[in-house]
Amino acid sequence: MSEMPQMTETPIMNISEMSATEKLVMIFSFYRDAELRGARLLFNLIHHLKDAEAQLKMSRHLADETRHAWLWTKRIADLGAAPVMIDDGYQRRLGLRTGVPKDLIDLLALTVVVEERARSRYMQHAELPNVDEETLKVLKAVTEDESWHLAWIERQMREIAREQGKPERADQALERYRTIDREVWATLAADEAQLMKG
Ligand SMILES: [Fe+2]
Ligand SMILES: [Fe+2]
Repeated sequence: MSEMPQMTETPIMNISEMSATEKLVMIFSFYRDAELRGARLLFNLIHHLKDAEAQLKMSRHLADETRHAWLWTKRIADLGAAPVMIDDGYQRRLGLRTGVPKDLIDLLALTVVVEERARSRYMQHAELPNVDEETLKVLKAVTEDESWHLAWIERQMREIAREQGKPERADQALERYRTIDREVWATLAADEAQLMKG
């Protein structure tokens, strides 16, 4: 591992001066960061969902997110680069706006919204012309996983809200987080679009 390049501490924000490879490394680093932070959300969740089936699904879900982080890390390494540390990415900005989830419904709703954002980012990327084959393979694999993730977490959230006698809490929490997500995404979308131009 001694020949590994040094970790870059801060994102390179001057996009117009970046090479096509540097832009790709940046995009994959954003994805990697989102996956790692997504995994952290699941670590918070895993002790709250105690039944056997939920434990089984949570464990597979968590394994998926850490594998996704690895798949993006590997794409970066295959380009001869190192991951860029993202201090101010999507999840960080989202977290600053949402605050700490105050109960299990909030935590599940936040997870759903984060999964939705990941899936839509990946789907949009896959639609672009000239995506290389390796990247397309990873995009397809992760998109498929994100779909089952968000379906089961949303089901779980609605079930718990119903059991608590407050089924309306599920939609309220989702709506709150989706609104914040859209606002936060608007602050990042322009940079991401410019990076995607290659
Ligand atoms: Fe993921
Ligand atoms: Fe996911």
